Amino acid sequence: MNKKRVLSGIRATGRLHLGNYLGAVKGMLELQDSNEYETFYMVADAHTITTPYNPETLAQDRREVALDYLAAGLDPEKSVIFVQSLVPQHFELMHYLSSVITINRMQHLPTFKDKVKEQSEEASMALLNYPILMAADILAYKAHLVPVGIDQEPHLEVTRQMARNMNSRYGTDFSEPQIFKTKGAYIPSLLGEGKMSKSVEGSYINLTDDLETIKERLAKVPTDSGKGKVEDAPAGVALLMEFAEIFGSPEKKKEYIDMYTGNGISYSQMKEELAGLIYVALEPIQEARKAAESVVDDVVVEGSTKAREIAAQTLDEVREKMGF
Ligand code: TRP
Repeated sequence: MNKKRVLSGIRATGRLHLGNYLGAVKGMLELQDSNEYETFYMVADAHTITTPYNPETLAQDRREVALDYLAAGLDPEKSVIFVQSLVPQHFELMHYLSSVITINRMQHLPTFKDKVKEQSEEASMALLNYPILMAADILAYKAHLVPVGIDQEPHLEVTRQMARNMNSRYGTDFSEPQIFKTKGAYIPSLLGEGKMSKSVEGSYINLTDDLETIKERLAKVPTDSGKGKVEDAPAGVALLMEFAEIFGSPEKKKEYIDMYTGNGISYSQMKEELAGLIYVALEPIQEARKAAESVVDDVVVEGSTKAREIAAQTLDEVREKMGF
């Protein structure tokens, strides 16, 4: 019996942060270890060029993501771990898929609109094509499930639309991929606005951060007087409460909520405690990262070879059905 497939990826913008870990990597791990799926996990280096990037650090940034994958527990014995740009079939499929979706549809995706707002003059065609490349990443393996943060759902919706259009026009058999949500899938920025993101300095905690760095980063989370109604708590305070639950326990969170609605929270103490809890969770990952150094390059080469074989089968089929 053929197992259903899972595919996910993270943009190669350097070391992974807690948002990547809790939003995507935890889901990847869960599906890998369930043994119910064939899992494909990719470093999305080609997606990096959709916004301004540094060609001189790209190779290093790509390696950092692969290292973090291995450190976090992605296992080359169980998953195909590969680099997007080493599988050129993704680019070819992107071109085919771009013919079954309209410019109008792509221009209305929220992620595109947000980026255009930030940098309308520089917004490139690659940015508009971003979700088509993502669809190609997924459909090249005919994946069923995609563990990603909830902000990626619009991209999956348009992927399903392209899959349906391909199937009805050309008789391909793409399945319609569904999002796999993890708990804590959306991790807000430490700055109290938007999501934790590599492109916003001060918004994130890296998996490789030491205790001092975590303390410094948490110290900057905006808070309030320490008392109030939970519903009215500012985003920074809500985030600290969420960390108490994720890295402590539901009881820990409740303790803080009781303080907030009672005598008040001392944020310096709370942040000190949370920094400790976060560091304890990251320490084993950081240890594993050291061990991964010596194997990561081989893992990626082997994984990419396997990925190419499978993507090539899909592309043979698509080319034939499309009349090439
Ligand atoms: N767009 C995803 C993100 O920003 C990264 C990504 C690229 C991806 N290709 C993918 C995720 C394919 C899942 C599947 O998080």
